[in-house]
Amino acid sequence: MTARRVRIVEVGPRDGLQNEPVAVPTDVKVGLIERLLAAGLTSIEVGSFVSPAWVPQMADTPAVMARLPPNPGGRYSVLVPNLRGFEAARAAGAGEVAIFASASEAFSRANINCSIAESLDRFAPVAEAARAAAIPLRGYVSCVLGCPYEGMVMPQAVAEVARRLVALGCHEVSLGDTIGVGTPDQARACIAAVAAVVPVERIALHCHDTQGRALDNIRACLDLGVGVVDAAVAGLGGCPYAPGAPGNVATEAVAAMLDAAGLATGVDPARLAEAGAFVTGALARVRAGADVSAFPG
Ligand code: HMG
Ligand code: MG
Repeated sequence: MTARRVRIVEVGPRDGLQNEPVAVPTDVKVGLIERLLAAGLTSIEVGSFVSPAWVPQMADTPAVMARLPPNPGGRYSVLVPNLRGFEAARAAGAGEVAIFASASEAFSRANINCSIAESLDRFAPVAEAARAAAIPLRGYVSCVLGCPYEGMVMPQAVAEVARRLVALGCHEVSLGDTIGVGTPDQARACIAAVAAVVPVERIALHCHDTQGRALDNIRACLDLGVGVVDAAVAGLGGCPYAPGAPGNVATEAVAAMLDAAGLATGVDPARLAEAGAFVTGALARVRAGADVSAFPG
């Protein structure tokens, strides 16, 4: 019997590096993405086309994209907050664009400076342009299991935003536990509410691992039929507008957990470990103020 397949979406180069206190050289980002690809990860979020005043760490995304190896059968994805970001992403040759909304009003304001309703209005022309350009559109809902500003978030609020994103044309909606506060019971309740309005095959899970419960939450959602999991190599990550959101769940841990459960991912653990060692080594040097221009690319 063929093993059930779970797709890992590697978000380390974007979600992982957007929160770095120091600028990560483009060479390091490109070297990391090359290694992730070599490890069998083909869905890779490589950056974002957002305001450089808001997230300066992603300002070199066009330069990163210009240097990426071909990814046949896979997709390099980028976040876009508005039409301007979409146009830049298209010009850079993005294989997928992702719009990002929130289930909490306060987080929406903090992250993209508008209400949830305004964000969905702003995403409509992006979705239209993506459809016209035949570029696949992904959607995010943040704060699905809790908000750093509002606390509890109701599953119905998550379901409504997810429904709206799919109605706009998202082929997949990634549900973000942005600050990693959820429990398996909460995760199940959230998936059940979303799956009532969005086919479960279109639901992805995006866990930050603040409380160390991400793997348990992912397991709970796999049991409900979720087949796409976001993760960041070496557990990099966090959102600059979500205080208390440190690392994403580590791709290494997710891949190992899925393998142990008999689920296929196509990821080579040894090569993934090389990618992790590369980026943690490079970040240590960058943080220490060392010159990384000669860092093995
Ligand atoms: P704003 O200040 O309300 O809007 O920002 P604005 O239109 O006045 O733009 C501000 C400045 O940015 C202007 O420049 C614009 O031209 C420029 P200025 O006149 O001041 O020189 N600008 C842009 N520049 C480049 N590319 C663009 C762009 N748009 C405007 N696309 C805005 C609104 C949405 C732009 C801003 O709030 C923003 O960029 N936010 C992004 C925040 C972000 O990237 N957060 C992290 C990603 S989300 C996340 O991590 C969560 C996730 O992982 C899931 C989870 O964990 O839950 C996805
Ligand atoms: Mg995130």
